[in-house]
Amino acid sequence: MLEVINLTKAYNIGAFGKEKLYAVDNVSFKIEDNEIVSLIGESGSGKTTIGKLILRLTKPTSGKIIYNGTDISTFKNIKEYYRYVQGIFQDPFSSYNPIFKIDRIFEMVREEFYPSENHDKWMGKVESTIKDIGLNPKEIIGKFPHQLSGGQLQRLLIARALLMNAKFLVADEIISMLDASTRIDILNLLISLKEKGLSVLFITHDLSLGYYTSDKTIILYRGSIMEYGDTVKVFNNPLHPYTKMLLESVPTTHKKWTREELIAESRRTPPGYCKYYDRCPLGDSNCKNVELRQVEDNHFVACAKV
Ligand SMILES: Nc1ncnc2c1ncn2[C@@H]1O[C@H](COP(=O)(O)OP(=O)(O)O)[C@@H](O)[C@H]1O
Ligand SMILES: [Mg+2]
Repeated sequence: MLEVINLTKAYNIGAFGKEKLYAVDNVSFKIEDNEIVSLIGESGSGKTTIGKLILRLTKPTSGKIIYNGTDISTFKNIKEYYRYVQGIFQDPFSSYNPIFKIDRIFEMVREEFYPSENHDKWMGKVESTIKDIGLNPKEIIGKFPHQLSGGQLQRLLIARALLMNAKFLVADEIISMLDASTRIDILNLLISLKEKGLSVLFITHDLSLGYYTSDKTIILYRGSIMEYGDTVKVFNNPLHPYTKMLLESVPTTHKKWTREELIAESRRTPPGYCKYYDRCPLGDSNCKNVELRQVEDNHFVACAKV
């Protein structure tokens, strides 16, 4: 289980780094074993920063992350942690070195984690894992990254995590660069791996992908959680005005675009107010110091009006 507790990440910005930007602001959630949790928010809401904090690619300003009882900042040997927790990102090409054949990423797993395994036995494992993720080893082994498609490369990164016996995957917009038919295959692959014991933090800005894939959903806005709970509850009974707005603004196939007047109210969010105050039709002076509150079993909302 992975637990995020009061996690905050502030970046110093401005000419002399005097201003602070709270990319992640006091965020707490849990991901159980065998669970897929979507982290949904618009661009700039802090999703990638949360992913990077979990992968220890950046340090929190405050708060902590506990993996199976251990504070991840205390791992002296980070390999111990990466053995179980792996990240996959939007651009699969960036995870491969273009001058090496694909085989190299699998060979590196052997060198790092299974140095005593003999080559033939290892290649047998590699081939069966490649089959498990729905690819034909004959079309993969010996190829260079540029000879494969984005979808194939993303699957191979999942295969690498499986070979390492990883238990937790941070998947940050992993299908944004793929075409529609490949996307669904990758989502189905993630769901099937969950049944084999993998947990996934599925980061996306796309509500429908989150709905399809995940057990639980976190709705993030400007670094804070607005709503969090069972995916079915958050989507079928959205309670936060921001979640409602997001769900209403999804283009659907039975509705044509029509011009709607924008609410041109220019309000500012005072310190300590709900982050959504400046855009919220319900915003008033009660929207101060709002905390996540349980509204039903496995459903939490941070709104003073709910
Ligand atoms: N290294 C950095 N330095 C300063 N600001 C950053 C840095 N990384 C991210 N940010 C800012 O933090 C906010 C959240 O970014 P990010 O986590 O990438 O959001 P998302 O993945 O949801 O689009 C954004 O406003 C972004 O500009
Ligand atoms: Mg991002």
